Amino acid sequence: MIYLDSAATSLLKPIAVEQAVLRAMRTMASPGRGSHAPAMLAAETVLDCREAAAELFHVPDPERVVFTMNATHALNIAIRSLVRPGAAVVLSGFEHNAVTRPLHALGASLRIAGRRLFDREAVLADFERLLPGAAAAVCTQVSNVFGFVLPIDEISELCKLNRVPLIVDASQAAGILDVDMARWDAAFVAMPGHKGLLGPQGTGLLLCGETGEPLLYGGSGSESRLQRMPEELPDRLEAGTHNVCGIAGLLAGIRFVRERGTAAILAHERRLLAVLLDELADSPLELFSGPEQAGVLSMRFPRLDSESAAQRLAERGICVRAGLHCAPLAHQSAGTLETGTVRLSFSPFLTEGQIRQSARVLRQLAE
Ligand code: ALA
Repeated sequence: MIYLDSAATSLLKPIAVEQAVLRAMRTMASPGRGSHAPAMLAAETVLDCREAAAELFHVPDPERVVFTMNATHALNIAIRSLVRPGAAVVLSGFEHNAVTRPLHALGASLRIAGRRLFDREAVLADFERLLPGAAAAVCTQVSNVFGFVLPIDEISELCKLNRVPLIVDASQAAGILDVDMARWDAAFVAMPGHKGLLGPQGTGLLLCGETGEPLLYGGSGSESRLQRMPEELPDRLEAGTHNVCGIAGLLAGIRFVRERGTAAILAHERRLLAVLLDELADSPLELFSGPEQAGVLSMRFPRLDSESAAQRLAERGICVRAGLHCAPLAHQSAGTLETGTVRLSFSPFLTEGQIRQSARVLRQLAE
């Protein structure tokens, strides 16, 4: 089997991740809920994970790293914290439903910045024009469909100039590209733990430049006499028992990423992308590629719809995702809303041999 669906979730994990999950399941209780050894061990692990994430993402204070169940959960907290019903919000033309659906639910007035794939200048020009007077800006760092790397450094500068709080969706970037909370001075950065950070499903992080409003209310293990949520982070945004096993696995994933280095991971994925593009260059496939692309490639087959192509690939042991990838806005921007695409997405464990083998199968299917 060749797994090319890491943009949905990572499948192969470092061995340390599964060992950490198993160890947590056997030895850890609930952090902040007791002073016995299993509770203390859980508290230590959870704090270690906050610290590791804070160092990787340049968050000045580990308490500003909040655990969520996924990136969608984190984005919902961020959006609900900043956007009042009906407010104007600037977002890129490549956002996921995890951004657009919460905004629609709030009746936000959407200002879409950048509808041309791989055109960073167009994105920037639109942000510059649309930011004045907006309540917030939301931008993905990398399109989950096309691997288009958006110019977040420059967008963050524009947000600072216009005093518009910025939410970054780092779902496809965390563990692969530089995510720098301090440099961006972002209000929030949201990410899953189970994609580039190689942790288990059911984990996510919200990095908080602002305190934020709770989405869930309940026990926090602190200020228990009060009927309001605590003011302090992370307790304010972490009601209920933590996913300690998931967080223990996520810690091992983050340690792996820090040891290997995001620059090396990105270089590996870009090298494989170059190999794949080269192998498919004279095939009848329509390939969506451009400058500044991360390890995600969308394509269309000449006489085969996307879902059927993905099914045929699955029958040959190649795992991809087809359709709209929960990002109709991105497909609309790229002109692929009617057909969807077949998406291949890479991981640090993918080999050049696997890429060449996949290319042979893709070519056969296309021809
Ligand atoms: N957003 C994830 C994807 O792109 C699930 O597949």
